[in-house]
Amino acid sequence: MRYDVKDVRLAKDGQARIEWAANQMPVLAQIRERFRRQKPLKGQRLSACLHVTTETANLAVALKEGGAQVALCASNPLSTQDDVASALVKAHGIAVFAIKGEDNKTYYRHLVQALAHGPTMTMDDGADLVTMVLRERRDLIKGIVGGTEETTTGVIRLKAMEQDGVLGYPIVAVNDADTKHLFDNRYGTGQSTIDGILRATNVLLAGCRFVVAGYGWVGRGVALRARGLGARVIVTEIDPTRALEAVMDGYEVMSMAAAARIGQVFVTVTGNKGIIRKEHFRAMPDGAIVCNSGHFNVELDIPALASLAKKKRAIKPFVDEYTLRGGRRIFLLGEGRLINLASAEGHPASVMDMSFANQALSAEFMARKGRRLEKRVYRVPLEIDREIARLKLRSMGIEIDHLSPEQKRYLASWQEGT
Ligand SMILES: NC(=O)c1ccc[n+]([C@@H]2O[C@H](COP(=O)([O-])OP(=O)(O)OC[C@H]3O[C@@H](n4cnc5c(N)ncnc54)[C@H](O)[C@@H]3O)[C@@H](O)[C@H]2O)c1
Repeated sequence: MRYDVKDVRLAKDGQARIEWAANQMPVLAQIRERFRRQKPLKGQRLSACLHVTTETANLAVALKEGGAQVALCASNPLSTQDDVASALVKAHGIAVFAIKGEDNKTYYRHLVQALAHGPTMTMDDGADLVTMVLRERRDLIKGIVGGTEETTTGVIRLKAMEQDGVLGYPIVAVNDADTKHLFDNRYGTGQSTIDGILRATNVLLAGCRFVVAGYGWVGRGVALRARGLGARVIVTEIDPTRALEAVMDGYEVMSMAAAARIGQVFVTVTGNKGIIRKEHFRAMPDGAIVCNSGHFNVELDIPALASLAKKKRAIKPFVDEYTLRGGRRIFLLGEGRLINLASAEGHPASVMDMSFANQALSAEFMARKGRRLEKRVYRVPLEIDREIARLKLRSMGIEIDHLSPEQKRYLASWQEGT
């Protein structure tokens, strides 16, 4: 088996951490157990491009037990946990091509290697694999029954491909399942982004002016958790409805031009590009901390920051100090890459339990139905989404009420009124 990881001797540590995460992933565990018995992915070759974390390891093992041959590469150069990559290779026989801190050239070589087994399915987090198949490996399209996509940015790219009529095979947008984005993007990224900032800087958030750019699912979570730690949260938006929602949720809302002048910590989570630009860096107070938790590092104009700086030095891991002409300093975290995965461990396993249950069941859905679907982006079937919520509640020991026949009739009729 071919693989490329940092050091296979890290496998023992990685395996212990994979087992630790498994403790918090009861829904995926049930699916894995059924997959082991029924082998719904038998004969599938699956190329996955995901953050190589303990939670992803549990997903990869479940897919393998379901009968798939799995090759895994990273979906971001800084998001790999090297001990986990080694454990997957050594303890689970899964081909991994990922090293934390790999340069862009290695990152793309690893994508090429993950596609080398001629996949019948792709699993993406940011649509890099699908993009490579479309641009460089069109020969593979014929053999691929379908794919899945994990994140908002990937879904946006895939819908653009569908719109342009170039999407080569059907994709399930796992991100759009309720049991994914309502929990993973909001509570998972909310908590882990704060975790990443604190691990990198140990800054006190209480009383600090904390700017969140983008009030989508991720932005809501980051703002909520920052406020919970006592930060004075400022939101920037371009969507009037979301801006209004942020106002009524009790945050200050203003333009980035205004926020840049007063913010102390800045986090971009828009999925867009060029959110913090030269004019914003110029306006920031001395000591401002800037980071990104959106999928790509293009949310911050890092070349512009570099062009303003007369000096750059690394203060400690994931903290770079840029000294501007005039002496003000700006601290950039994690090279502008997803801070929750760069300096922390990504989302807690308990929330990835639902995201990856969606991935596993969507892969099973594709194996069964992919050939009959059109080359479009599909939602996760509602039965799957609901079932995951039911299983998660049950694993938490939470009972809910059920509709009585009378209530069902009432909700379905228009006859009863005041
Ligand atoms: N770090 C992680 O682990 C992680 C996890 C999930 C999602 N993501 C990524 O986070 C990003 C956001 O995801 P989401 O689910 O919240 O998306 P979303 O579409 O729900 O929210 C994005 C928000 O940003 C706003 N926005 C767009 N351009 C803007 C601009 N110029 N200024 C201010 N606001 C702007 C939009 O109006 C929208 O409200 C995506 O790139 C997604 O892939 C990261």
